[in-house]
Amino acid sequence: MADKSAAPRATSNRSTTPVSDTFAQYISSQWADRPDALPTPRESARYAAQRRARISAMHPGKRLILPAGAAKVRSNDTDFAYRAHSAFAHLTGWGSDSVPGSVLVLEPTPDGHTATLYFREPAGRESDEFYANPEIGEFWIGARPSLTHVAADLGLATVGLDGFAAVLDAVDATTLIVRDADRDLTDQVDGRRLLTVDSESLASIDIDSDADDDLARDLSELRLVKDGYEIAEMRAAVAATKLGFDDVIGDFSDITAHTRGERLVEGTFNRRARAEGNTVGYDTIAASGPHACILHWTRNDGPVVPGDLILIDAGIELDSYYTADITRTLPVNGTFTEVQRRVYEAVLEAADAAFAIVKPGIKFREIHAEAMKVIAAKTAEWGFLPVSAEQSLEPEHQYHRRYMVHGTSHHLGIDVHDCAAARRELYLEGILEPGMVFTIEPGLYFQPDDLSVPEEYRGIGVRIEDNILVTESGAENLSVGIPRTADDVERWLAN
Ligand code: GLY
Ligand code: MN
Ligand code: MN
Repeated sequence: MADKSAAPRATSNRSTTPVSDTFAQYISSQWADRPDALPTPRESARYAAQRRARISAMHPGKRLILPAGAAKVRSNDTDFAYRAHSAFAHLTGWGSDSVPGSVLVLEPTPDGHTATLYFREPAGRESDEFYANPEIGEFWIGARPSLTHVAADLGLATVGLDGFAAVLDAVDATTLIVRDADRDLTDQVDGRRLLTVDSESLASIDIDSDADDDLARDLSELRLVKDGYEIAEMRAAVAATKLGFDDVIGDFSDITAHTRGERLVEGTFNRRARAEGNTVGYDTIAASGPHACILHWTRNDGPVVPGDLILIDAGIELDSYYTADITRTLPVNGTFTEVQRRVYEAVLEAADAAFAIVKPGIKFREIHAEAMKVIAAKTAEWGFLPVSAEQSLEPEHQYHRRYMVHGTSHHLGIDVHDCAAARRELYLEGILEPGMVFTIEPGLYFQPDDLSVPEEYRGIGVRIEDNILVTESGAENLSVGIPRTADDVERWLAN
């Protein structure tokens, strides 16, 4: 009968759901059977299996727990749009259709691991969940896929979430968990691990364990080089993002007419993101005029004024969660002023110089260094630095960084700032390999109140951000089809 434990949260003071047994019996009856034709495995399934094999080889004898995570509350009883944890998505191939609260478990065997995906299977009609539970009920959010369906789709063994209790019971000191995916689950695992430790060694046990951190690190480093599926997804994410930028330009007359034109930029781009993919890969930055000097301007509540530049940093995340990360800076009235063009072309020169050195074998950090040579040279040439460009580039000086305080590149993929737990020696100090994908995104930002630059520069912010794939012989700019020279940008706006 009515399962009160599944009652919706925070709605008891306004719930009108009938509670009589008569109603429960009636609504549970007269439902057609559901044929569940099994799908063939999705394309990502075999890649996810290879990724699991690699992480398995790094952690022999360990039980690995990768939670998808629960939905996060936005306000009272409403949640943010659900997104599974990136490591979970990477090792399952499950993206925007993931079931919240799922857990991937790699159970150690003598020759590796067996992978099992635990998720909340569909509730039967004998439960009141389907009509009375707005959080997870079928009438409210749609039906969940069956265990057999997901097993076929992802090429993974599946077990109902109830079965995860047995995994928790088995947790011991050899169990590792991705800690930041699901804090409640991590607390439970920590509690179980403590129970398995005798009291003498308890004091020496750090349950915020280094071994968990090693797992997070290895999962991040696994993503430094993209496989064929991931590269195809990155191309598709960039192609969708180009459509979003085209849409924004097509809406420029509405955008400039509105007092909060930046919001219209965000909305237009978001429309394309929801149509083509899952959503945006990060909050769109629609930064017109001096807002462009605020690096993470996402309030987007300003006007878009002809004569100013607008910096738009936006990327579409596909259903697989792979995202582009593109910035273009556009003259709102279609034509750069002389000083705007001067700044724009300096940033473009920095981007092109950085791109020109990209090939397997160089260090990641060299890309930034190359861009900085141009930024230092230009700001010195314009007389903004108290020393020469060469002196400014010395580590103890860096005067030019006043005008570009951020880095030039970050890895990109299933997270916009991908591979976040990778070791510095493999990231900033790492050697480029074919299959790596990262941004090149130099900029120049002259704050409106910066007295170190002439007045005509103040309030100008320019960033040009492209998404770069390292190839066997060099590099490919995946976003080269989104206009980036000043002349091409003006032609783009004129169409
Ligand atoms: N959109 C954030 C970044 O460029 O890193
Ligand atoms: Mn970026
Ligand atoms: Mn960006």
